Amino acid sequence: MCGIVGYSGNEDAALLVMQSLKRLEYRGYDSWGIVSLSNNKLSSEKKVGRISEAKLSLPKSKIAIGHTRWATHGQVTKQNAHPHLGCKQKVAIVHNGIVENYLTLREGLLKKGHKFSGETDSEVIAHLIEDEKKKAIPFEKAVANAASKLDGSFAVVALDSETGSMVGIRKNSPLVLGIGKGNSFFLASDVNAFLKHTKKVIFLEDNDLVLLKGHHASFFDFKSMKKLKKKEVEVKWSSEEAEKMGFKHFMLKEIFEQPEKAIATMEGRLVAGKVVLPEFEKILKKANSFNRIIFLGCGTAFYAGLVQKYLFEELCRIPVEAEYASEFRYRNPVVGKKDLVIAISQSGETADTLAAIREAKAKGATLVSIVNVVDSTIARESDSVLYTRAGPEIGVASTKAFTCQLVAIAMLAIAFAVKRKAVSKSKAASLVASLKKLPVLMQETLEEKAVIKAIASKYSKKTNALFLGRGHNYPIALEGALKLKEISYIHAEAMPAAEMKHGPIALIDKEMPVVFIAIRDQTYEKVLSNVEEVKARAGKVIVVTDKGNTVLEEMVDDTIFVPKSEELLQPIINVIPMQLLAYYVADKRGCDVDKPRNLAKSVTVE
Ligand code: AGP
Repeated sequence: MCGIVGYSGNEDAALLVMQSLKRLEYRGYDSWGIVSLSNNKLSSEKKVGRISEAKLSLPKSKIAIGHTRWATHGQVTKQNAHPHLGCKQKVAIVHNGIVENYLTLREGLLKKGHKFSGETDSEVIAHLIEDEKKKAIPFEKAVANAASKLDGSFAVVALDSETGSMVGIRKNSPLVLGIGKGNSFFLASDVNAFLKHTKKVIFLEDNDLVLLKGHHASFFDFKSMKKLKKKEVEVKWSSEEAEKMGFKHFMLKEIFEQPEKAIATMEGRLVAGKVVLPEFEKILKKANSFNRIIFLGCGTAFYAGLVQKYLFEELCRIPVEAEYASEFRYRNPVVGKKDLVIAISQSGETADTLAAIREAKAKGATLVSIVNVVDSTIARESDSVLYTRAGPEIGVASTKAFTCQLVAIAMLAIAFAVKRKAVSKSKAASLVASLKKLPVLMQETLEEKAVIKAIASKYSKKTNALFLGRGHNYPIALEGALKLKEISYIHAEAMPAAEMKHGPIALIDKEMPVVFIAIRDQTYEKVLSNVEEVKARAGKVIVVTDKGNTVLEEMVDDTIFVPKSEELLQPIINVIPMQLLAYYVADKRGCDVDKPRNLAKSVTVE
């Protein structure tokens, strides 16, 4: 996610802003920029790549804004880096969020004669403010009017060369004011940007606007422009804690970010009960020309394909396969132009996945990808890309990227099925409605954390574990086993629940914890028999089941209740207890949760 910083005070503003941007580097970025104001003139410096220690070329100034960009719309280029300026170079803005209606706004502004230098959604904000300024209204009112035209999420800091004012405004994206010494002020996406200068902060809330002018801060509701009184608080976090927003590890922060990131991934793509994926128009036009779909990925990304193979097949009624990329690439696969290959990768740089997609393309398949890192190699080599908007995933163990992959693929499957007339418009609308409700159910599941932590503590000394599930919960069992293995180093195995009696049941004894995903769905009765088989051999049974299933709770050792969603989307809920169980076990064992031994975040070797 992007990082925003603004400074107004008595010190070297551009230097302070650059140092503050560096403290937001953990948020991940691919380009950065700073604009400073001196002698009523805005000066800009933007770069692709890391913030270097190199001296800034900006003139000395007392007021400046800056930005680290994590690309969601538009390539990674200097033109697309923020801050963005209006045509007359008198207004500069930095933005964190997504402007859903930017294409319409851009069209309107082009008709009024505005010229754009980049291709981002954010740039429209600078031109909107510039347009409002023509009404000779106060700068803060021009910003408020512009903000009222935006659909989507935004935290914006705007700088005006004519009045020397800086304005911060937010809706569904964080923005915090830091109150420094001598009436100096910081504005930033999170406190970590300026924590070394001050711990006195005011957290802006949705629809808040703050005006910084002449070393004074005043607050308004940007819809009514009614003056507001805001409460100043003292932040207790250390700088390191602030990076993790108060969570003990990045992985835990990222597990708890999942509802927000699912919303971000769906933003602008679910409109009036339909899935709208402009970046897939070309592919969807050919939807009826494919007679097979092949998911390719590694590790957790492969499991995302395995989960959604069930959903895709259920909706589209064509054969769907999920393959380990590392296996696919070496077996001279039978693939051709009637195949749609979907690569899944958080980093977009995994060597085995990259090699596999090159093999598929060479054999004539159409290639699309579900990727988190914009402009990554796999993204660049795909015919179309559906970006997950999980933001940078710092923890080596993939969590929020996985659920965002499942959400993204679900949207693609619905759009595909509608194009192939495989589902009715009402079924599609019902699935879209269920997708929209998903973040609330994910949040509800996260609230089971205390129960899961207690269960984790009970089993943290075990040396083995089994994870069992049926249908689309089998890949969730695989993901649960992988999470436990990779961060707690406990050996864990997953299999289809029915497979246990074909051998692995010999492993069951009182030392073996067995985690079942046992949602009351079409396979529930069969899973119940598997639970009985384990209990009959003194195995310890932990179940993930839907709320209210007290009958099963009576039968087993430990129960984690989850809310019920549309069945096809239920795996996105069911994986959250798997993630938390692994996390709390690993933390209890004192493991290095964010950087597990032997692992790399992106496996760029074969
Ligand atoms: C997931 O927890 C692992 N860190 C690993 O399996 C990962 O999912 C795999 O290496 C694929 O990475 P990618 O999504 O960046 O391609």
